[in-house]
Amino acid sequence: MSKNWNEQQALVTGAASGIGLAISRKLQSLGVRLVLCDRDANALAQAQAALGSNTRAVCADVTNLAEVEARFGELLADAGPIDILVNSAGITGLTNVKSHEVDPANVEAVFRVNFFGSYHTSRALLPSMVQQGYGRVLHIASIAGKEGNAGMLAYSASKAAVIGMAKVQGKELAGTGVTVNALAPAVIRTPMVEALPLAQVSYMTDKIPMKRCGTLDEIANMAAFIVSPETSFTTGFTFDLTGGRATY
Ligand SMILES: NC(=O)c1ccc[n+]([C@@H]2O[C@H](COP(=O)([O-])OP(=O)(O)OC[C@H]3O[C@@H](n4cnc5c(N)ncnc54)[C@H](O)[C@@H]3O)[C@@H](O)[C@H]2O)c1
Repeated sequence: MSKNWNEQQALVTGAASGIGLAISRKLQSLGVRLVLCDRDANALAQAQAALGSNTRAVCADVTNLAEVEARFGELLADAGPIDILVNSAGITGLTNVKSHEVDPANVEAVFRVNFFGSYHTSRALLPSMVQQGYGRVLHIASIAGKEGNAGMLAYSASKAAVIGMAKVQGKELAGTGVTVNALAPAVIRTPMVEALPLAQVSYMTDKIPMKRCGTLDEIANMAAFIVSPETSFTTGFTFDLTGGRATY
């Protein structure tokens, strides 16, 4: 089974800002109906207003499984199947701090968003994708999950867990028409990066052979490629967007 863009509906988490918003705009430009999901109600309302009246918004905290199941259940009943899930909601937690010095509560909080958030949303939406025999899931991971960024234990380890989840889900669903992949960007200038200590940003950007950050257009275009109907023979994979930092 395959579906044209204009027959599809996508749910994007973290859609009120940065990468999630850019991917939402790109999918909309292709004709996909959009459901924006974020926990920040004000930013979500602004994003919905910017993207237009036929865009739906679901205000939910992805760390809360009961809330995700309730909101997404209502959505599926009301709006029909979700064909594309993009998990972009994420936080860095404390950075520029050694793993033996960071507060364990902070490590846990980062895992709750970055790993459990993506696990919760995919858990809620995968059954209906499998049932219809078509789906595309994209987890936004990070180069930190492949390489480990010093000073970013929680972030790096939680993104490694996301990469592991994409491998597992991809294999579990191979043959169902549903693909699950991840994307590991280096640095893209967004509100998340602007909030980091300069030393942590320099640490990350200095490692990029192209000597520049990625752009929102570059990540939105790659995301659209990954969730396109034509990308049908790749699953469980982590795509690279690092300007040459990772060549594997
Ligand atoms: N910007 C980068 O350089 C970069 C690099 C690699 C990976 N990433 C990943 O890309 C994703 C998007 O990052 P960004 O730079 O656009 O960040 P951002 O801070 O601009 O946007 C993140 C969005 O996620 C939302 N969010 C956070 N916690 C949430 C929760 N519990 N429930 C629902 N929504 C929640 C926020 O409200 C915000 O709108 C993240 O997963 C991040 O780890 C970013």
